[in-house]
Amino acid sequence: MVKEDDLKDAFAEWLTTTSLTPEMGTVAVRPTRHGERASGWSASALAGHLGAVLSAGGWSIDLENPQVEIGLVVNCRSGLIAWGVSHFSEPPRVGWKQRSPTQRPFFKPVSLDPRHARLMLNLVRSQGVILDPMCGTGGIGVEASLMGISSLSLDLDKEMVAGAKENFSWALDNGATVEAGLQVGDATELPNILDATILEEINGVCVDPPYGRNAWRSEEAGNLFIRVCASTRKVVGEGSYLVCMLPCEARDDEKIYGQSWSEICAAMEEVGWKVNDKWLIPVHASMVRVMVLARTA
Ligand SMILES: C[S@@+](CC[C@H](N)C(=O)[O-])C[C@H]1O[C@@H](n2cnc3c(N)ncnc32)[C@H](O)[C@@H]1O
Repeated sequence: MVKEDDLKDAFAEWLTTTSLTPEMGTVAVRPTRHGERASGWSASALAGHLGAVLSAGGWSIDLENPQVEIGLVVNCRSGLIAWGVSHFSEPPRVGWKQRSPTQRPFFKPVSLDPRHARLMLNLVRSQGVILDPMCGTGGIGVEASLMGISSLSLDLDKEMVAGAKENFSWALDNGATVEAGLQVGDATELPNILDATILEEINGVCVDPPYGRNAWRSEEAGNLFIRVCASTRKVVGEGSYLVCMLPCEARDDEKIYGQSWSEICAAMEEVGWKVNDKWLIPVHASMVRVMVLARTA
C-alpha cells in the first residue's frame, strides 16, 4: 500500500512543475479505480490526501462546480497511481462521442474504440513511425494522425484497406495533422514487404489481432499472433515498444489463446519481445480484452 506522506510529497512536487495556482479558482480531485478492488486501496481516500495538499497550498475545494479538476487514477493490482488536469470534464462532453467509429465513412464491428487506440499509442511512446500491421478499419491510424503521429497501417484484406483509406481521409477533414500511410500486406511477412526507407523509421507497434468468438482459446489465432510478433520485431529498432489488444477468456487474463499467460510471455520473448505488463480492458458487457505492453528484448 502507498504511504500517505510519499503520495503527498510526490503530488506537491508535481504541482510545482505545473502552471496551476490557487488564483485559478476552486479545485476538485476526481478519483477513478481501474480494475478490481483491493483492501487498503481506496481511490477516494487517496484523492482526499491530494485534496489535503491542495488545501494546505491555499486552494479552495469545491466538489460540485470546480474551476480546475484533477483526475486521479488508481490501479490497485499493479499499485500504479496517476493524476493530471482533466480537460474534458465539462459538459457538453465533446470529443470521444463525436469521434466514435460509427461516425466514420467505413465502420465494422471490429473498429477499435478511439480511447483504446489512443491508449495504445500513448503506451508506445514513439518518436518515429508507428506500425499497425492488422489495421482493419484503421482505428489506430486515424487516432495517430489526429495526435500528430506518423503511422503505417497494413491489412491482408483489400476491402479493409480501401475502407481504412476512406477513414484516413475523413480524419484529415476532421482535424488530423499528419497523413497516415497504408498498404495491403501480410503482417507475418513484414521484412519482405515493407519499403526499405520506412524500416529505419518504425519504432513502435500497435497490434489489434482478430478476436472472433473463440479466438481466446484458438491455437491457430495464438500462432498467428506470435508470428506477427516475430515479424514486427524484425522491422523495429532496439528499445521500441509493442502494444497489443488480445482476446481472453471471460475475465480471466491468465488464459489467452487457450494458453497460460506465462506461455504467451515465453513465446513473445522467444521472438524478441519482453513483456512489461498487461491490463484487463472492458470493451462491452460481455467482452473483456487484455492490453499487453512489451519492449524489444
Ligand atoms: C480486430 S481487426 C482490427 C481492427 C482495427 N483495429 C480497427 O480499428 O478496425 C483484425 C484485422 O486483422 C486482419 N488480419 C488478419 N490476418 C492478417 C494478416 N496475416 N496480416 C494482416 N492483417 C491480417 C483482419 O483482416 C482484420 O481486419
